Amino acid sequence: MTPEQISMVQDSFKKVAPISDVAADIFYDRLFEIAPQVRELFPEDMSGQKKKLMQMIATAVNGLTKLEEILPAVQDLGRRHNDYGVVAEHYDYVGAALLFALGKGLGDEFTEELKAAWAETYGTLASVMIDAQKAAAA
Ligand code: HEM
Repeated sequence: MTPEQISMVQDSFKKVAPISDVAADIFYDRLFEIAPQVRELFPEDMSGQKKKLMQMIATAVNGLTKLEEILPAVQDLGRRHNDYGVVAEHYDYVGAALLFALGKGLGDEFTEELKAAWAETYGTLASVMIDAQKAAAA
């Protein structure tokens, strides 16, 4: 990722942070619409999940400039996802739902350039998690 992409993502996340509850609702509604098969992996009551997800994204977004520092935590997170029944293919759905929620939250400010920067961010996180998951499962 370029430094410009990193600052774009960080600036835009600051705008989403105040509406993170709404953004998380939009995210999960979309996820379960495009991938109903993953609903059963999550608990009935999603309230705790929403906070954790937004906090993790915040940590990742803030850590983009020092990725090597957050890497072990992201790898641990990936390994825990084996226990949740998550497989590599699920990551595409989560990425799509995330971009959708950001688009709703940011409206016109979610330009193609910003979308590409977020796709890079998510792709980076997801590939670290998937690699750690696969290594742990092997
Ligand atoms: C970059 C991608 C992702 C991030 C940052 C993320 C983040 C998190 C976090 C922070 C937790 C809380 C539990 C913990 O820390 O171990 C969690 C749990 C969970 N995640 Fe993810 N996740 C990602 C991808 C996915 C994908 C692709 C799926 C598949 C649908 C998924 C499904 C779940 C499930 C089922 C739980 C456990 C729910 C529960 O039983 O409480 N996650 N995730």
